Amino acid sequence: MSGTSLDGIDGVLFDAQALVVTGHVHAPFSPALRDELLALNTPGDNELHRAALAANAVARGYADVVAQLLEATGTRRDEVAAIGAHGQTVRHRPGGFDGYTTQLLNGALLAEQAGIDVVCDLRSRDVAAGGQGAPLVPAFHRAVFAAPDADVAALNLGGIGNLSLLFADGRTGGFDCGPANCLMDGWIASHRGLAYDTGGAWAATGQVLPELLTALLAEPFFTLPPPKSTGRDLFHPAWLQARLKPGQRPEDVQATLLELSARTAADALKAQMPQARTLIACGGGARNGALMRRLAELLPGVQVQSSADRGLPVDQVEAAAFAWLAHCFVTHQPGNLPAVTGAAGRRRLGALYPA
Ligand SMILES: Nc1ncnc2c1ncn2[C@@H]1O[C@H](COP(=O)(O)OP(=O)(O)O)[C@@H](O)[C@H]1O
Ligand SMILES: [Mg+2]
Repeated sequence: MSGTSLDGIDGVLFDAQALVVTGHVHAPFSPALRDELLALNTPGDNELHRAALAANAVARGYADVVAQLLEATGTRRDEVAAIGAHGQTVRHRPGGFDGYTTQLLNGALLAEQAGIDVVCDLRSRDVAAGGQGAPLVPAFHRAVFAAPDADVAALNLGGIGNLSLLFADGRTGGFDCGPANCLMDGWIASHRGLAYDTGGAWAATGQVLPELLTALLAEPFFTLPPPKSTGRDLFHPAWLQARLKPGQRPEDVQATLLELSARTAADALKAQMPQARTLIACGGGARNGALMRRLAELLPGVQVQSSADRGLPVDQVEAAAFAWLAHCFVTHQPGNLPAVTGAAGRRRLGALYPA
């Protein structure tokens, strides 16, 4: 898995029978690859060539992570049924006529280098069936986090935040609720040269700017009904820049962006599952203590937990979800939930590059 935060690659070895992770490796992207992937999120020169090279580089990075995982866990490649490989999203334009979603990854090169079947391009089929192609993790969240006697919600705090609604009666909902880390990461990178605001410490030195918060919350995406998904296509630095006023202190803007992430997630939960008493947070944003505290404050009566409390460390959940989706492909089962993505029906997701 490599998500919109562009922090790098999380690989897990996943036991699909027991639904447990038995190994985890994280490898950061090189600064050059990260910059190029970020640049490819917006139109630019010679994109086809650059995208092909980036897709090769992503495949090599994935192959390295797979090799490290096999080594660290003492696993032979022939013991692994498949690699579920997400690739790097650089465009996400689902919906309507001619929708598409693009995850850069050379699946053929990964299969060649890893010597294991590769299941990739896991979102396109759902988009082809009229769906958003995202989020795809709610079905996995159901498999690992649902309770028989209570409605439970799960919140993935990646570059973008997405909420899964796991109703006790078996229904599953889910949608992207807004930016989680991507705007905060971009702001601290441009003002302090840091990849992210550890623990939300810098945001905590600032004050929320009410006028800015109102301007940010006016974005129509936040009040759209599900199904809905988003990405850097919408929540990019220029989106923020257009809403800033001169004289605003950088730390106050950071505090406001943290508040935006917490507010949009909390408001979405209150709107879609007001009865929830448990919210399980995962993704790197669950390590942002200030963000987690703010979520808990905005959701009185809701126990805000980390997925680690349920035995799945926060950095492993989404990677495990894509391993699980590859398992669905390999066992000829559909992976999408039309109630979540809006697709015309259940579909077997992914394309296979045999070893
Ligand atoms: N200790 C931390 N404090 C604050 N934020 C963190 C911390 N660790 C990770 N993050 C955030 O989590 C992001 C990575 O989360 P991840 O779940 O990998 O997202 P994605 O799926 O978009 O790649 C980082 O870019 C950063 O914003
Ligand atoms: Mg990541």
